[in-house]
Amino acid sequence: MKRILVVGAGGQIGTELIPHLQKNYGYDNVIAADLKDEVVARLSQNAIAEKLDATDFQAYGELVKKYKVDAIYNMVALLSATGERMPDVAWNINMGALLNSLNLAKEFNTALFTPSSIGAFGSNTPHTKTPQDTVMRPNTIYGVCKVTGELLSDYYFSRFGVDTRSVRFPGLISNGALPGGGTTDYAVEVFYEIIRSGHYTCPIPEDTYMDMLYMPDALNALTQLMEADPAKLVHRNSFNVTCMSFNPRELFAKIKERVPHATFDFDVDPVKAQISASWPDSLDDSCAREEWGWNPQWDLDAMVDDMLKTIAQKLGK
Ligand code: SER
Repeated sequence: MKRILVVGAGGQIGTELIPHLQKNYGYDNVIAADLKDEVVARLSQNAIAEKLDATDFQAYGELVKKYKVDAIYNMVALLSATGERMPDVAWNINMGALLNSLNLAKEFNTALFTPSSIGAFGSNTPHTKTPQDTVMRPNTIYGVCKVTGELLSDYYFSRFGVDTRSVRFPGLISNGALPGGGTTDYAVEVFYEIIRSGHYTCPIPEDTYMDMLYMPDALNALTQLMEADPAKLVHRNSFNVTCMSFNPRELFAKIKERVPHATFDFDVDPVKAQISASWPDSLDDSCAREEWGWNPQWDLDAMVDDMLKTIAQKLGK
């Protein structure tokens, strides 16, 4: 059975990825590592957990060696909106963790998954049915890190034979840990606010389309891609994946159908507005479907039903 190390395990994806991997590979074969003591303490209640600064090459290497790791999932990231507030920090963290992951994957012969993002695209990318292979000139430091990461990961595969794989995640909607500092966060925050207070003020313009995925599909994407037959992979870093595209107005209408007293208004954040306008409206994910069988299960209605139900339970409402 494969032994997997997840770095950045306390974030929005890691928090749900850990139980998903435990279910697929066994509790003892999943190690959750994170930077913060309080996060490690939380993770250790349900997983083998270790404290790790992924930019510390030596400490990171010791963990890979200690657990005889076969695959690294590098989930360390500072997201798009936070990145614009501190570009140097974003570059150092995002690229530091990636370079260490690549070099350790090479040294210890492990597979490596690092998520890319719709943030890897920019204003001059075709915005509808955005192709797998297209112009990638992002306007954010987050996007610059993601494009660099895709290129480096492909380079490590072709030059050194490192088994690097990746998907370009759109906005991820989930009910575990909150996202933080992203441009797509509104599509999660709205559910908490509507259940708490019945009102949500949105920072994204009402007519801005972005692709989204519900977390169960995102988790399946990860394990499906990492288990895919390498002979079938024409691409590696990184695959477009999506299963819905909507703008805030459309999402809020779906919520209002179910919560008639919900009210919404807009207080647009200029940085997030600019970022979201530069990203695709809808991705073409046919390469992921053809090369490794990507087949998402959730649509907008089912996601809204499930989010309202699970977050109401979580908040005791
Ligand atoms: N969810 C990310 C962000 O908004 C995009 O990958 O920054």
